[in-house]
Amino acid sequence: MKRRDILKSGWALGTGLAVSGPSTMLRAATDSAPVAFPQNFQWGVATAAYQIEGGAREGGRGPSIWDTFSHTPGKTRNGDTGDVADDSFHRWRDDIALMKQLGIESYRFSIAWPRIQPSGRGPANPAGLDYYKRLVDGLLDAGIRPFPTLYHWDLPQALEDAGGWPNRDTADRMTDYAQIMAEALADRVTAWSVLNEVKTFTQAGYWDGGMAPGRKDPLAFLKATHVANIANANAFHALKAVNPIVQVGSAYDCANCFPATDSDADKAAAARWDKMINLWYLQATLTGTYPELLPADRQAELLGWQPGDEARLKVPLDFVGINYYSGWRVWDEPKGNGIPNLNTRAEWAWSPRSIGKSDFGWDIDPPGIRQILKRMQQLTGSIPIEITENGIADNTPPGSDGRIHDAKRIAYLRTHLKELRHAMDDGVPVRAYHLWSLMDNFEWAAGYSQRFGIVHVDFDHGQKRTPRDSAFWYANVIKTNTVP
Ligand code: NOJ
Repeated sequence: MKRRDILKSGWALGTGLAVSGPSTMLRAATDSAPVAFPQNFQWGVATAAYQIEGGAREGGRGPSIWDTFSHTPGKTRNGDTGDVADDSFHRWRDDIALMKQLGIESYRFSIAWPRIQPSGRGPANPAGLDYYKRLVDGLLDAGIRPFPTLYHWDLPQALEDAGGWPNRDTADRMTDYAQIMAEALADRVTAWSVLNEVKTFTQAGYWDGGMAPGRKDPLAFLKATHVANIANANAFHALKAVNPIVQVGSAYDCANCFPATDSDADKAAAARWDKMINLWYLQATLTGTYPELLPADRQAELLGWQPGDEARLKVPLDFVGINYYSGWRVWDEPKGNGIPNLNTRAEWAWSPRSIGKSDFGWDIDPPGIRQILKRMQQLTGSIPIEITENGIADNTPPGSDGRIHDAKRIAYLRTHLKELRHAMDDGVPVRAYHLWSLMDNFEWAAGYSQRFGIVHVDFDHGQKRTPRDSAFWYANVIKTNTVP
């Protein structure tokens, strides 16, 4: 690509990002020709319950691990919590109206388990069910596909007190919860996601400790991975039992793993990390087996494997959800990291092709989305893929004209969408894209410091929603089915 074209392409248009990155693949990403998408492609946005709802103590909702974690001093930036968040618990009608205005076709939201079963077990809380019934009906009336996720990290605290994800009983609790939701909504909701980012909530929740419930126990993490994989399959069966025609998948956070150096040891470490974060969950679900990683003679004990688990794990997902943001930098770690045989050290949000950083400090690597899709397709084959999340923290404040010129976000979206389209040309069957996020929200341990929304939310002044430039840009993409 000629420099003239790079300058036209948007990265250079006031984005503050370097255009002379190390990679030639960047140049492919900044292609200036408009790219059309297939006619039936679905354009969506994504959010999650704890990040937007607020109403933490309303409607009979019980406490979740995120209430506990965020209220524990020192766990989140500025001590921020999701108590109020975007107040979507009360403002959902406005949020639907906003989406309708933007032409959004699919809304990926999550259901708060503790609104439905305040202690994680027992009968459903009618007020909780009503909230989601109204939300779903409102979406259908607006012509937007409701696309719920059953579990986006807000485990009822009572289940954590009983052992949390490392405890096998949690998988059975998930069966009951999924059945309740299916009975309430599977006549109207045709596409369901079970777990969001099972890798992140098990790893960051039980091993790294940076997220709720904040445990730092690698062996508990391993057990949690197995229980969550079983829970995923249990929920699949529970949903299908109520309505066999619903489409069920899960949203996996997948990322390219780059060796930190050219050494054979780091290359081998990156391959091991890829197995752990990209294959450990999806492969278990699709095949009933784990990639070869743990010592074979200890795997059963380390996972709490029981006879028959292969059949318990395996389900034919109707689609696979993929969340893509950045990559991992991986080193060999001969002294180990607590997981037998894994022996890696990995740093999140890095790419050797980085063309700049998001405001969160995450490396931006547009060709990475094409690379990871092709990598995952080696496992998923012809199963349809939905991009369940992709987006950027761009904290550009409102300008003096009252508008929010988030040029970096537009450039990010343009380049990633073009790379996504290239992946589709390569034969990856992607049928939908959900932008993270509809609006700024509670970014977990980072509190409200990172703004991922195409809609700005003024948390200090009445929760005012203001669409950013990127929202209008995205609305035009949807309208024309073309990325300019
Ligand atoms: C992944 C998570 O699913 C979502 O909750 C989070 O806000 C975004 N990525 C951005 O970090």
